[in-house]
Amino acid sequence: MIDESRAALPNEGVPAEQVLAEIRELRATDRPTHGGRLFAYVYDPAVPGLDALAAAAYAESAHVNGLDPTAFPSLLAMENMLVAAAARLLGGGPDTSAPDVVGSVTSGGTESLILAVKTARDARPDIAAPRIVVPASAHAAFAKAAHYLRVELDTVPVDPTTLRPAAADVAAAIRPETVLVACSAPSYAHGVVDPVEQIAEVAAAAGVRCHVDACFGGWTLPYLRRLGVPVPPFDLAVPGVTSISVDLHKYAYAPKGVSVLLHRDPQLRAPQYFAYADWPGYTMINPVISSTRSGGPIAAAYATLRHLGDDGYLELTRRTWAAVRTLADAVRGTDGLRLAAEPESTVVCLTATDDGPDLFVLVDELAVRGWHTQPQLSYAGLPPSVHLTVTAAVAPRAAEFGSDLADAVTTARAAGPVGLPPELRALAGTLAPEALTGDLVAGLAAGLGLGPGGGLPDRMAPVNTLLDAAPPALRERLLVEFVSLLQRPAW
Ligand SMILES: Cc1ncc(COP(=O)(O)O)c(C=O)c1O
Repeated sequence: MIDESRAALPNEGVPAEQVLAEIRELRATDRPTHGGRLFAYVYDPAVPGLDALAAAAYAESAHVNGLDPTAFPSLLAMENMLVAAAARLLGGGPDTSAPDVVGSVTSGGTESLILAVKTARDARPDIAAPRIVVPASAHAAFAKAAHYLRVELDTVPVDPTTLRPAAADVAAAIRPETVLVACSAPSYAHGVVDPVEQIAEVAAAAGVRCHVDACFGGWTLPYLRRLGVPVPPFDLAVPGVTSISVDLHKYAYAPKGVSVLLHRDPQLRAPQYFAYADWPGYTMINPVISSTRSGGPIAAAYATLRHLGDDGYLELTRRTWAAVRTLADAVRGTDGLRLAAEPESTVVCLTATDDGPDLFVLVDELAVRGWHTQPQLSYAGLPPSVHLTVTAAVAPRAAEFGSDLADAVTTARAAGPVGLPPELRALAGTLAPEALTGDLVAGLAAGLGLGPGGGLPDRMAPVNTLLDAAPPALRERLLVEFVSLLQRPAW
């Protein structure tokens, strides 16, 4: 039965106001993107008028096509200005040790990292089976890049206390087939800055490119440094760093769809381009993965940067850092919890002490109290943890967090961990991913409250507890199955 009242393509068009009202109604089920209580997915500076400015700028250029910069010089100009701004912030440009820096605007961190890997791979056509070396804490986008590009991924463990890789381990992992070494500044999961200087040095000694993934925090680290927070060298000022990425849709507070990938010089960037003239249509020359792309996100990012300005970002970083310290103090002051790492950027990552609460239950209890945090599963000897991406919007709310956290811990302790049936726990620990059948997935999903077509349980602790009991390969399979259950056409 087709529900015409909600069809994306109704028989007769629906008036504009009604369509917008419908979207607002759908949005009411989302987590709150504003208000400083959502600690992942969104980056909110809470600057009055900024959303309206970005939306207006977006609308100006929404129909401009980045496919051909000669047809739309406005986009080329704005891209070049964004690249220059990112380069200046990250140790490049005139009067620096990276005067020839060049870059591209991509759709996001994942695209920037895929392109960094592709560029390094294509710079070495002599290597038949290319490999990249990344810390175990590197963003999953490197694994995606390796998967898409058929490059082998060599991961280097991180120290369980510092959560950083050792440069000596990176050096040992470099092989003759290695085309790229990468590190994070900072890592997403824990917010720690890798020893970029030492890693870049071992990469350079081996004649290998070194990419710094500053997608998450590249826009805040320079401002944190100016505020007196100790930030180790991490950018193009470090010899041996050949490329660096920073997402403008994170801490530059631009609407989603904009990241910048910088290369130290044009020669290093050259293999990034894809050109094709061997067909009867237009010759295609793409610096990035998409061909047709909207000018909207680029214009919105340009407007955001120009409106906030350097002093604006400094002030927003000051507020964010104050919020980080308040939240970190709340964790330190809560019995049963500890910081997974001392905050050195804009992440607060907490974990439980031996006699602490179950973290997955805690995350649900925090959500009940209006705080939306992100659970991280145990991995390679690291315990489960809770991730908080802190943005400037959190500052006015931060003081309220401590009492709710303490309260949530008390409730989570009293409730205890989710009791998975022993046979289910055993299954999660032993099942080979390829042995997962459709029936088994459907049974598990129903038991966990995941319904076809979008049904989600109120509490996620049972899902997270089951996933946590499974090794990564089974987690991946289970989540693919669960998500594909949710992604069904709405008739
Ligand atoms: C360090 C880091 N790199 C890459 C990415 C991927 O960025 P995106 O989600 O924009 O593709 C993220 C996202 O959180 C990140 O934190």
